Amino acid sequence: MPTVTVQGEKAFEVDSGKKLVLAIEDAGIDILHRCGGNARCTTCRVQVLSGDPPAMGEAEQQRLARETDLEPNTRLSCQIRVASDLEVRVLNRSHLLGIPPGPRPMD
Ligand code: FES
Repeated sequence: MPTVTVQGEKAFEVDSGKKLVLAIEDAGIDILHRCGGNARCTTCRVQVLSGDPPAMGEAEQQRLARETDLEPNTRLSCQIRVASDLEVRVLNRSHLLGIPPGPRPMD
């Protein structure tokens, strides 16, 4: 089982193939996912600090291309299915921004 480490929070095992955003949320970390996992809002974005996430699909690539101020290791966690160990930094937390996380993305 791959291990996901969220910087400053915890490390936890994840079923292979699970969406990263759901893995993070199910570990008790209040990551935002305001569009429900549809590659539209970018609030689920994370920085990949180590590991080798799957290549970007077209939806993720196109959405991130519209942003100008993101670090190159930024990914949309709703578009990543965990396949190997990853260390990430979660950029948008519900409790810090004072807004609800958004509708839960589909499995
Ligand atoms: S882009 Fe909106 S939840 Fe991922």
